[in-house]
Amino acid sequence: MGKERIVSQNVLASPAGVAGQASRRRTFAVISHPDAGKSTITEALALHARVIGQAGAVHGKGDRRGVVSDWMAMEQQRGISITSAALQFAYRDTVINLLDTPGHADFSEDTYRVLTAVDCAVMLLDAAKGLEPQTMKLFEVCRQRSIPVLTFINKWDRPGQDALALMDEIEQRIGLRPTPLTWPVGIAGNFHGVIDRRTGVFTRMQRSPGGAGLAIEEEMGTAEAAERFGAEWDTAAEELELLAMTEADHDQAAFLAATSTPVLFGAAVANLGVRQLLNILVELAPPPSARPTAAGPDQPIDAPFSGFVFKIQANMNKAHRDQVAFMRICSGRFDRGMVVTHAGTGRPFTTKYAQQIFGQGRDTIDQAYPGDVVGLVNATALGIGDTLYTGTPVEYPPLPSFPPEHFAVVRTSDTGAFKRFRRGIDQLDAEGVVQVLRSEQRGDQSPVLAAVGPMQFEVATYRLEAEFGVIVQLDHLPYEIAARTDAAGQEILRTESNVEVMTRVRDDALLALFPHRWRMRSVAGRHPDLRLDV
Ligand code: G4P
Repeated sequence: MGKERIVSQNVLASPAGVAGQASRRRTFAVISHPDAGKSTITEALALHARVIGQAGAVHGKGDRRGVVSDWMAMEQQRGISITSAALQFAYRDTVINLLDTPGHADFSEDTYRVLTAVDCAVMLLDAAKGLEPQTMKLFEVCRQRSIPVLTFINKWDRPGQDALALMDEIEQRIGLRPTPLTWPVGIAGNFHGVIDRRTGVFTRMQRSPGGAGLAIEEEMGTAEAAERFGAEWDTAAEELELLAMTEADHDQAAFLAATSTPVLFGAAVANLGVRQLLNILVELAPPPSARPTAAGPDQPIDAPFSGFVFKIQANMNKAHRDQVAFMRICSGRFDRGMVVTHAGTGRPFTTKYAQQIFGQGRDTIDQAYPGDVVGLVNATALGIGDTLYTGTPVEYPPLPSFPPEHFAVVRTSDTGAFKRFRRGIDQLDAEGVVQVLRSEQRGDQSPVLAAVGPMQFEVATYRLEAEFGVIVQLDHLPYEIAARTDAAGQEILRTESNVEVMTRVRDDALLALFPHRWRMRSVAGRHPDLRLDV
């Protein structure tokens, strides 16, 4: 290997090498509602592409790989996953990074934060169910961040909605213009294959015997397809004509501007349409690009190394308390062992333990490029949103806080443990496990925890006990919505019942908590000057 390897590394070390590597990266997450088929499509992608690395614990149902941590014992009992992780695939000449967005009850701020680290999202819809609540929430984050979204309509192998009705639903409910790239022949439940709308080529798709292998695909001429599929072919042809009369053609600029969404049809369980999805990711999804910084110009991808932490996970190693920070690389080349600077403190941070995160493949750990995710072990000095860099100082904007929907007062009756209790709460806040709110009314001894998903409370309680030796009680508060307000708003809201204003410790933001949206609307209606931003 010696010489060749050195030569290629030298090439990669040049700025052109970094830009070239970055242009080969596609970093995305799947946004979906539980049961739409996220785990299934992840496995299907792995079948089509070569898995070259994984960061953190990856959990497919019934397929538990990766590192088992102390507090993951809890998730094992429940058969769900709490942690986000990244999978890396090689497909054609592209490196694809798929970042996991945990769902179900483990839906949490982490799920949203993953979307700060991707360049694109695949919105996975169940053909029968269309847009579901969790998909809508995740889509909202994509919209706020202008993340381009590809849509994959899954489960076309079983009865579902009409394809045109699904297009309407996307357009009406989320305002993205659907631009189907493929169109199914055969209704949901009777899937024969797809027509590529750009080339007109029909690919017949059949599941492999047993369904576990790659789909059997065959290009078929229009005349033959028309004869074989009769009325179903005619229906698809009519639908295509209808689409041609609307503005449904792919528009790369609109896709990148996140105003249109290319749509593909398939059935992940039978690996149908998955190859097309990978091809579209390679051809159309954006590679990493210059990233906005907190102050100053965007950081070009071929600048010296920089990245930011989007997820922290503690206790991945049972033997000693440790903390792993997952970092998305934004510019330059990451070499394992390099000493980088922590932008927050200006202190050096050594990255020699990066390798422990990756199960196999030294190549993937020795170096990483913009778009890749690196797990840093023993990263107790790092917090969510922190920037690491070499060369000219750079700092990425802090990660946004996401609107919590679950609130609980936390206290301990063990007065001797109060110091540890405080330390634990501070630690969980710094890691972003939960948001911590201070309530005038309840006092310092009873902070309020705010979470996007209820599982965050369980993780917090478990960790306070396991790591800080504090047994806590949680009392759930009857609020479901938090809106930013200001000091004037706080005064106004003192006159209202069933509303509380609290201070978020992380950023001193004032949050008004309401039991439900209509209560918030009625209060807002009575006080036109009241500031309430959700
Ligand atoms: P999730 O990660 O989004 O929660 O969904 P997951 O992949 O676990 O899929 C949920 C269920 O939907 C699974 O069935 C899975 O087999 C099924 N599924 C996924 N993609 C397709 C598809 O393209 N067509 C059909 N017909 N089904 C699909 P399950 O019965 O819950 O579990 P299993 O026992 O089949 O694994």
